[in-house]
Amino acid sequence: MNVATIASIRQVPLLEFGRGCLDKVAASFSGEKPETVLFIAAKSAANAVQRLTHALSSAGHKVVHVDGLPAEPAVGDFESVRTRARPVNPTAVIGIGGGSVLDVAKLVAALHDSDQSIEDCFGTGKLMGRRARLVCLPTTAGAGSEVSPNAILLDRAARLKRAVISPHLVPDSTYVDSSLCDSAPPGLTAATGLDALCHCIEAYVNRYATRLTDAWALEGVRRISGSLRRAVACGSDAVARDELSLGSLLGGLCLGPVNTTAVHALSYPLGSEHGLPHGVANALLLGPVASFNLEHAVDRYAEVASAMGVAPRSSPRESAEAGIVAIRSLCHDVLGSIRLRDWGISEAHLPGLAASGLTVTRLLDRNVRQVTLEDAIAIYRSVL
Ligand SMILES: NC(=O)c1ccc[n+]([C@@H]2O[C@H](COP(=O)([O-])OP(=O)(O)OC[C@H]3O[C@@H](n4cnc5c(N)ncnc54)[C@H](O)[C@@H]3O)[C@@H](O)[C@H]2O)c1
Ligand SMILES: [Fe+2]
Repeated sequence: MNVATIASIRQVPLLEFGRGCLDKVAASFSGEKPETVLFIAAKSAANAVQRLTHALSSAGHKVVHVDGLPAEPAVGDFESVRTRARPVNPTAVIGIGGGSVLDVAKLVAALHDSDQSIEDCFGTGKLMGRRARLVCLPTTAGAGSEVSPNAILLDRAARLKRAVISPHLVPDSTYVDSSLCDSAPPGLTAATGLDALCHCIEAYVNRYATRLTDAWALEGVRRISGSLRRAVACGSDAVARDELSLGSLLGGLCLGPVNTTAVHALSYPLGSEHGLPHGVANALLLGPVASFNLEHAVDRYAEVASAMGVAPRSSPRESAEAGIVAIRSLCHDVLGSIRLRDWGISEAHLPGLAASGLTVTRLLDRNVRQVTLEDAIAIYRSVL
């Protein structure tokens, strides 16, 4: 596999990391003019929102709240928040939540005062700009949306997840305070942590891999695989939560420059057509896609194995295979034994799912091995 020597990165100008950094948000609103701040927040973040609201209101800023967004938001959910945001005309949008909330906050910040339709923004580089300041605080250690240029919405009519990818969606400031994740129950911690692991592995085993993103991705694999079981078993383990948030951040940093591959491409229809949570759908496919890709990236999977703490075997191939076993065990240990049939998916659904997955060419083009319709069906069948 070739590794590019040039990496092109557009990043968050202010990135604060560490437990307690939430307390630094209000101080960043210390300009001369009072601001109109729109909070788009997950319910689980109510305490943090209350504290920030108090601090910002006391400093003379106007604060307006939007909550009640569903997980894995659809175009209509975004439109409803955009409609509520228009008369508010915020100068700043603060998103506090998982990937679902952050993606909507990013799009609302860019589009609440714009005539551009969301339809015109889907794709890469189509969003025309953003005037409002955008601040993001993740409450899951998973999606990496807090540093990525991506926002994903479900298109119910097309039964597809569609992406807006634009440098205007990279926040102005991001605060990764893992204490915001402490309330995440074990199932959510597991699914989101495995999503982050996918971001790292898919960035590393990727036709567009770069040396810079390789460094982030392998470190992310190390941090996530070393902490996920502990964070799932004991949600109040602050060290494990912090490690997981760091791994997730590192995976998120890879999303802009290299993005994901076949795991995410084939997982999208599982979410859009059958309601599997994003992280669960990815976790189901991570092992099977690694086995499918193995011949085309033996050395890369051997490095992933090493980052997961797997002792080297007598050949890179054997190390890589042991790494895939480790990936499968980690998924099993934190999520249990799950299969597609648990979501009512049967053999008859597979050709449709595969056809849908193959439309996600922006990600499949990055996969180290070409995926045909038959390949995609076989991958789904292996976890039926
Ligand atoms: N923009 C990107 O770069 C990017 C990358 C990957 C995934 N995504 C998108 O992100 C979404 C998934 O995001 P996610 O996996 O972070 O989950 P999520 O935002 O969908 O949240 C899942 C559920 O957990 C709840 N929740 C969130 N934080 C919590 C906490 N600390 N305690 C208790 N409950 C909490 C939410 O309210 C929601 O009900 C999908 O729509 C996916 O397509 C975006
Ligand atoms: Fe993801």
